[in-house]
Amino acid sequence: MSVSAVVPAGGSGTRMGGPVPKQFQSLNGKPILFYTLKTLQDSGVISEIVLVVPEKEYKAACADWLGKPEIVKKVVIGGEKRQDSVFNGFVEVSQDTEIVLVHDGVRPLLSQKMISESIHAAREYGAAITAIPVSDTIKRVDSSGLVSETIDREGLWRVQTPQAFRYPLLKEAFEKANSENFYGTDEGTLIEHLGKPVKIVEGSEQNIKITRPEDLELSETFISRAFPEI
Ligand code: C5P
Repeated sequence: MSVSAVVPAGGSGTRMGGPVPKQFQSLNGKPILFYTLKTLQDSGVISEIVLVVPEKEYKAACADWLGKPEIVKKVVIGGEKRQDSVFNGFVEVSQDTEIVLVHDGVRPLLSQKMISESIHAAREYGAAITAIPVSDTIKRVDSSGLVSETIDREGLWRVQTPQAFRYPLLKEAFEKANSENFYGTDEGTLIEHLGKPVKIVEGSEQNIKITRPEDLELSETFISRAFPEI
């Protein structure tokens, strides 16, 4: 049974600065997105990738840029919010696929273990998300910068990608969310909104979402370790 991946890389990445969105910025000489796509291809378990990019980068992403892997079968244009972009990618996935794995283009440090464990858990539970337990103290802060509440961190997890879903379940979740104009910041939220279980798979502190310039610096060492040949 097949696994398809949707890689949302359709954001403008404005917090990062620079002439191109962050997913196309260089990390040790290659675009951030190159590492993300390479790790997905190297897993050997994914049969197609649908890559979602901003409209401005569409032409360049369709061309054979910097070793885009062969399993990138389709490139589509993103939407206003992340969820819209994932949906634009999802509708292009082969309808006979068993599992859809969603992974942020700007998380180049995902591991093979995360990919295989999330697929395995999705087969068993229907939906699986990668996450790590919260270790910092968590506070709610009001608009004037004063602490209004300390939140008990017991049982709190920080959610990452990859996230994997049985195809029909994710389809149902998108249909419900779209008909109600319901938005979540990850696809796991859409499954919860359906009232269905979502299994946690262990993520890693290294699986950074590159958002700010300091994230790029932090990733450089990890990337050279993970890709010694590049
Ligand atoms: O917005 P956020 O930082 O959570 O982005 C996570 C991923 O979603 C990034 O890879 C980004 O390019 C992508 N994204 C997208 N379409 C948007 C917004 C974000 O594909 N409209």
